[in-house]
Amino acid sequence: MVAENTTQPISLTLRVWRQAGPNEPGAFVEYRSANLNPAMSFLEMLDVVNDELTIKGEEPIAFAHDCREGICGTCSCTINGKPHGPGTGIATCQLYVRSFRDGDVVTVEPFRARAFPVIKDLITDRSAFDKIQAAGGFITARTGSAPDANATPVPKPDADLAMDAASCISCGACVAACKNASAMLFVAAKVSHLGLLPQGQAERDRRVLAMVRTMDELGFGNCTNYYECSAACPKLISHDFIARMNRDYLKAMFRSSLSPESASGAGGGA
Ligand code: SF4
Ligand code: FES
Repeated sequence: MVAENTTQPISLTLRVWRQAGPNEPGAFVEYRSANLNPAMSFLEMLDVVNDELTIKGEEPIAFAHDCREGICGTCSCTINGKPHGPGTGIATCQLYVRSFRDGDVVTVEPFRARAFPVIKDLITDRSAFDKIQAAGGFITARTGSAPDANATPVPKPDADLAMDAASCISCGACVAACKNASAMLFVAAKVSHLGLLPQGQAERDRRVLAMVRTMDELGFGNCTNYYECSAACPKLISHDFIARMNRDYLKAMFRSSLSPESASGAGGGA
């Protein structure tokens, strides 16, 4: 939704989820935010609201942010029921006040998923993603020993696909958008990013088995092909990567059933 006049200040009513801590009850609290510059980012608007709360001696709204450029994946919240809010292919920090109309009521809440418990207000604990990444999202080349990148030819289609997968910023919107709270798109992006490149072949089988197993252990749901994940993804990562990961997983399972050692060895072609 785009405001009709994007140069005039607008007023919004914000319904913001306030929760003092992980084990405290939460509730929506309304804040009237007047005279907003439409060119402000959504997070700058929250800064203004927080300045006003601080002046009044009230607790500012806790929200996560870092780069404010759509790079780090920190600024994750759900706006009007959509992870990262209205708009396509953007993170919360890339959303602007001009996306709303004067007088709109805007509901802001944390990502909702069992594996992402609320820490405070709009901030969730997404360390489950770190655990999945630590289980296999790496290669074991020794630091400083890597040859020049262009010394190993990579077919252009594989390089392009690997770059698409590598654009994942680990924000968690895919999980928050999925009715099953599935992390399949995130894991598929991380598995595919390395599995498509020559440097990622040595641990290819072990990687997909370990990352999928860790994802399951951490309480994420299954994919039932709704593709809300791709629609909410700020990097528009395709759900095709989930099919690619499933193929990799089945091949790795098969090879490991033939020989347990093979699951830690080389994988097949892309
Ligand atoms: S796949 Fe997209 S939505 Fe999911 S964590 Fe990565 S960038 Fe975020
Ligand atoms: S603050 Fe880094 S992606 Fe939004």
